[in-house]
Amino acid sequence: MNVFILTGAGVSAESGLGVFRGPGAAMWKRYDPMQLATPEAFARNPALVHDFYNMRRRNLIAASPNAAHVALARLEAQLARRCGALTLVTQNVDDLHERAGSRRVIHMHGELLKARCASCGAVSDRRDDLAVDSRCGCALRPHVVWFGETPLDLDEIFAALEAADLFVAIGTSGAVYPAAGLVRAARGRGVRCCELNLEASDNAAEFDDRRYGPASEIVPSWVEEILAK
Ligand code: APR
Repeated sequence: MNVFILTGAGVSAESGLGVFRGPGAAMWKRYDPMQLATPEAFARNPALVHDFYNMRRRNLIAASPNAAHVALARLEAQLARRCGALTLVTQNVDDLHERAGSRRVIHMHGELLKARCASCGAVSDRRDDLAVDSRCGCALRPHVVWFGETPLDLDEIFAALEAADLFVAIGTSGAVYPAAGLVRAARGRGVRCCELNLEASDNAAEFDDRRYGPASEIVPSWVEEILAK
């Protein structure tokens, strides 16, 4: 079995990293993404953007994976033992999947614990704060994909989707493309699609199966079912 999984902020919500949209203190209600998460915002006020991502990086370092991350790492290992495969694509910039034991994680929106040179594009590991004068010759920026920028590894993502037998979206609102369009591409290939989320996403109608509840509860039980088959 070849499983393709797309995760979003909801899979890390119970690790205390918050989500971007939805009820309560969602990030894009508290902060203006156009002032913090665009290349134009970085050009206009790099110090403000660094403060925002430095705060998120510190929160990430203090956070821990939850049962949903652990269950997905287990699924990867078990499928590999059974000559199957798991492609785990995440929109998240955190490293909680890797910390839970997932080996192969495609970060289509970048990684918070990496920095990128704003001119040569060189990527380096980064755990401490970035500042306006942080340099590798030129200015360093967070290695995250901002609004208006092209996500990473799209060729690899679509190649993995071509080979998938099952498509599963976990903890994502389906509000941001091209990630939100992957389910339609999977359906176009006749692949069964399953949504695991706290509530119905914007593209819930595209899914054959839907399960709603906190990821730390519904993901482990879904993984049990898949492995029992
Ligand atoms: N368990 C499962 N799902 C949850 C939980 C939880 N504990 N808490 C919230 N959710 C669900 C919400 O119902 C919502 O549908 O997770 C989803 C989170 O949606 P968003 O906040 O929009 O996050 P995401 O879909 O990952 O955003 C996509 O947008 O802001 C950009 O680049 C950013 O990668 C991000 C992209």
